[in-house]
Amino acid sequence: MTNITLALGDITEQRVDAIVNAANSSLLGGGGVDGAIHRRGGPDILDECRDLRASRYGKGLPAGRAVATTAGRLPARWVIHTVGPVFSTTEDRSATLASCYSESLRIADELGARTVALPAVSTGVYRWPLDSAARIALTAVRDMGTSVTEARFVLFDQRAYDAFETAL
Ligand code: AR6
Repeated sequence: MTNITLALGDITEQRVDAIVNAANSSLLGGGGVDGAIHRRGGPDILDECRDLRASRYGKGLPAGRAVATTAGRLPARWVIHTVGPVFSTTEDRSATLASCYSESLRIADELGARTVALPAVSTGVYRWPLDSAARIALTAVRDMGTSVTEARFVLFDQRAYDAFETAL
């Protein structure tokens, strides 16, 4: 069974097998978690992302999907890049957000990763309300049959941490 834990802090510092990146479809970097991972992980991650774009995802990685690279200079072994949906008030994109987590854990299983750190996907630039995002994220991970022993949600500020703690 997966042990779901919460931590307050920076996901790039986590000593886990794999960290999940809240990327965008281009896989070529951005701000937020994505910017921090590429900054601290170094250029090898971006090189692998470029190769993935060229070989498998010419049109970009669709929202709700995930793909892995190595982790460059980060303490983790792998980065699992997923693309969250942009929050919408007119369309329910919850299933896509849930899929970010189930797909990320599926990739973790393929890699043999046992400990995984995850950010609150879509709650920054993509504007998903924290309370809702926390419920979707925790439900998706709880309901996933996976060999991952620890799924650690790493929340960047107290407000996000509190939302996840309440939902948990
Ligand atoms: N560690 C943990 N959490 C973080 C960190 C960090 N180092 N930095 C930010 N957060 P965001 P999104 C939190 O914007 O909403 C990028 O430009 C942040 O407070 O990183 O999925 C991509 O390239 C928020 O709660 O991701 C895409 O274009 C959460 O991580 C776009 O942003 C997610 O915020 C993706 O937007």
